[in-house]
Amino acid sequence: MRLGAAGTRLVPVEPSLAEPPDEPEMAGVSDAFRYMQFRLAQVAPTHAIVLLLGETGTGKGLAAQTIHRLSPRRAARFVSVDCAALPATLIESELFGRERGAFTDARATQIGRFELADGGTIFLDEIGELPAEAQAKLLRVLQQGQFERLGSPRTIKVDVRVIAATNRTLPEEVRTGRFRSDLYYRLSVFPITMPPLRDRHGDVPVLVERLVMRLSERHQRAIDVIPPALLDQLAAYDWPGNVRELENVLERAVITAADRTLRLAEPLSPQMADAVPAASHIVLADVERAHIIRILQARGWRIEGVRGAAAALGLKPSTLRSRMRKLGIHRAAGEVAHELAPRIGHPLLG
Ligand SMILES: Nc1ncnc2c1ncn2[C@@H]1O[C@H](COP(=O)(O)OP(=O)(O)OP(=O)(O)O)[C@@H](O)[C@H]1O
Ligand SMILES: [Mg+2]
Repeated sequence: MRLGAAGTRLVPVEPSLAEPPDEPEMAGVSDAFRYMQFRLAQVAPTHAIVLLLGETGTGKGLAAQTIHRLSPRRAARFVSVDCAALPATLIESELFGRERGAFTDARATQIGRFELADGGTIFLDEIGELPAEAQAKLLRVLQQGQFERLGSPRTIKVDVRVIAATNRTLPEEVRTGRFRSDLYYRLSVFPITMPPLRDRHGDVPVLVERLVMRLSERHQRAIDVIPPALLDQLAAYDWPGNVRELENVLERAVITAADRTLRLAEPLSPQMADAVPAASHIVLADVERAHIIRILQARGWRIEGVRGAAAALGLKPSTLRSRMRKLGIHRAAGEVAHELAPRIGHPLLG
């Protein structure tokens, strides 16, 4: 990337220096980012369990890979398990394996992810979604480093470093009985919180630079110019979906680019929650609507499922849909902006 005529702040980078697509480097310059990196670097060379906490899209997955890469286990496997994506009935055999005949349809012996990761690192993503039985078995692996395959009496010993991540508030999950407290304490040896992007606006320019480079390569678009005004606009937004949302916005901008200058494909949604004035007479429906939209955006407008907005809001999907209808919430960003701006920003309300 080279300096553009419109005066971008980008530093030229040779294509050969770009990071491999499967293992991007974490970018950031803010104090919050540096502290998080310092914590990663502190724990990486050890064998300690790491618990990564933070909102969706803050880089927990990337941080887990970084820890593995900086650890003495880097030459061994990094095995990732998304506990939210696996059905409860399969998760135990996925993690610990199963012996031939353990289920009626289990024709072959299956090696579990813990065995696969022997000598390396296992990344248990969305650990808060782990069913109770798997929690018990995991606790034993963490305590004793051993387990049995489903349908087998033979105890297997492994040497695996565990990194877990969640965007849930685990103490709350413990309080309500959904997560074992003994497992929680085992996991929270070295918690690292990934700061949300709205608390580190200073990282936006360097993230934009890094992501645009990655995306323009992926989509074979030459983008040379990132206007400073655009950077300012991006830095002022509050990013409820964090780096992933920024990445999505940039990806649309790169795909729709008409020339070598980066422009947004659509307006950013307004900073609704922050724009709500602290007046007592503000209409409650506006606050509710703003909150629902924030959660929907953070969840990529997915309504159903464990990662959906309904679960995050503690509502049934059907209830959320009817609430959205009542509040006039639609997906199109422009529409939302027009509906909200006059009501929330009205001088009479402030
Ligand atoms: N500091 C960073 N520098 C560069 N890219 C980043 C950074 N943080 C996050 N990303 C990118 O943002 C996207 C989201 O990050 P990631 O998937 O690690 O988030 P997450 O916290 O695991 O989210 P979720 O909880 O939804 O799984 C990824 O494409 C990742 O590469
Ligand atoms: Mg993730």
